[in-house]
Amino acid sequence: MKFNISLLVLAIVLNNVRCSTGEFSPTSNHRFTPEAVIHQLSEQIRFLIRSGDIDNGIPVLDPYEFQWKQLNLGVEQIFSADVNITKAKATGLGNYKLQHFDFSKNEISIAVNIEIPLLQFNSEYYELNGSIYEAIPIKGQGIAYIEVHNTSLWGKIYLKQSEDGKSILLDKIGEPEFKIERIVSRTQFDNNIDGVISSMVEELLADYLTRFNNYIATAYIDKIVGYLNPTLDKFDNWNVIAVLLVDNQDNGGADN
Ligand SMILES: *[C@@H]1O[C@H](CO)[C@@H](O)[C@H](O)[C@H]1NC(C)=O
Ligand SMILES: *[C@@H]1O[C@H](CO)[C@@H](O)[C@H](O)[C@H]1NC(C)=O
Ligand SMILES: *[C@@H]1O[C@H](CO)[C@@H](O)[C@H](O)[C@H]1NC(C)=O
Repeated sequence: MKFNISLLVLAIVLNNVRCSTGEFSPTSNHRFTPEAVIHQLSEQIRFLIRSGDIDNGIPVLDPYEFQWKQLNLGVEQIFSADVNITKAKATGLGNYKLQHFDFSKNEISIAVNIEIPLLQFNSEYYELNGSIYEAIPIKGQGIAYIEVHNTSLWGKIYLKQSEDGKSILLDKIGEPEFKIERIVSRTQFDNNIDGVISSMVEELLADYLTRFNNYIATAYIDKIVGYLNPTLDKFDNWNVIAVLLVDNQDNGGADN
């Protein structure tokens, strides 16, 4: 068992000892509130994002660094581009805040609102070749530098048990939405209209993405679920959720 469940349970128990003003009984189920369990899961995820897990093939995601990557970006017919990126670094993912969540025992779902204060991306050199509406060609190259300020994410995460019964998998994510407050770009484009592009990005891109967020999120969400599940399958942590599904459990009215 790679995911350290006993540590997790210990942390939950300690957390509840600290939070509890009344008597504490380690055998009573009702101390495993959805709040405590989900907060601990969230901290485990943050730790994974910041430290990675070599045994399970999870790279460090904050900071996420790479020497070279070829990407194919696309949003249906709106935008598509081939991008080559050299010596890049992305930071900020690990600073996410779990603003609000609601656990439903009946659906085995968690409705969440997550905020990421600041995401930063830079690369020493990039080359982009693409088009807008398959009609307007765009090309760019040079240094890339982008800041994404105050991203909010919403969705209802439906969980399911893996076939061997050991892991928490994602079933689907319902009603995915996001909102971006501001995008700041100091990306070189063609050395002629870099300033124009940067201010267009700053004035239009965050609003544009936010306006079409539903469409964009829906287009990508199944891919994200499909991408995450093989990794989640490596962690034997379904018993964390099982604790919350016990009947006759007082979970503080958070169930709905
Ligand atoms: C990206 O790199 C590959 C391999 O070096 C090259 O064939 C391709 O043309 C490059 N694409 C862009 C958009 O620069
Ligand atoms: C860029 O795109 C155009 C048209 O889509 C294509 O003809 C050209 O080969 C591409 N160049 C690179 C470097 O990928
Ligand atoms: C995010 O929003 C908060 C509150 O509105 C603001 O104080 C903060 O400066 C913003 N952060 C960034 C990185 O823009």
